[in-house]
Amino acid sequence: MPLVSESTHPLVKQKLAMLRAADTPPSVFRQLVRSLATILGVEATASLPTRPTVVRTPLGDAPGVELDGPVAIVPILRAGLGMADGLLDLIPEAQVWHIGLFRDEATLKPTEYYNKLPSRCQARCALVVDPMLATGGSAVRACEILRNSGVPSLTFVCLIAAPEGIARLSGAMPDVPIVAGAIDERLTDIGFIYPGLGDAGDRQFATG
Ligand code: PRP
Repeated sequence: MPLVSESTHPLVKQKLAMLRAADTPPSVFRQLVRSLATILGVEATASLPTRPTVVRTPLGDAPGVELDGPVAIVPILRAGLGMADGLLDLIPEAQVWHIGLFRDEATLKPTEYYNKLPSRCQARCALVVDPMLATGGSAVRACEILRNSGVPSLTFVCLIAAPEGIARLSGAMPDVPIVAGAIDERLTDIGFIYPGLGDAGDRQFATG
């Protein structure tokens, strides 16, 4: 998998256009976030390690595979919550770990307010999900927390990324693949992705 990928899937492009539209209501917005996360999840898990198995069909034995080790889905609260549902549709047996970060509106720095990782993080790989990669501060902080907990392999999945956030995350975590629905033009001077979609948390939960 390339280290930074921007989806070319027609359904991702179509759903992102609907997601960006300012008049998309929260109910539709949440549904779009969920299905985009599922499609991007397929792309993000393309290199997931597997081991061979044999299954008994009604007629005989067939070769199969099973996932080689547990997978964790790690939403960055709160906007990442809607993406976690979409990834669980894909990997229902995944563990879900929550990290709460909010971005200070003045400094744009992430503040950690919640961290609910298991006492022993035994996932082989963690999919960190957040709709927006803006300055990259929140993504880097979440990946640092997971690295310190001993998770060997991380992948960051977002709906829209700014070039500035990609540069920051790849600079801090060069081995963490970034799977983005779209890479936008730039950050505004107040740290919003342009043209973006506004604030993904506010639009999901109608708090704007
Ligand atoms: C948004 C977004 C990311 C972060 C991105 O969350 O969902 O977590 O900002 O910005 P960054 O790349 O500059 O760190 P926000 O702080 O608005 O919190 P919310 O999820 O509760 O809405």
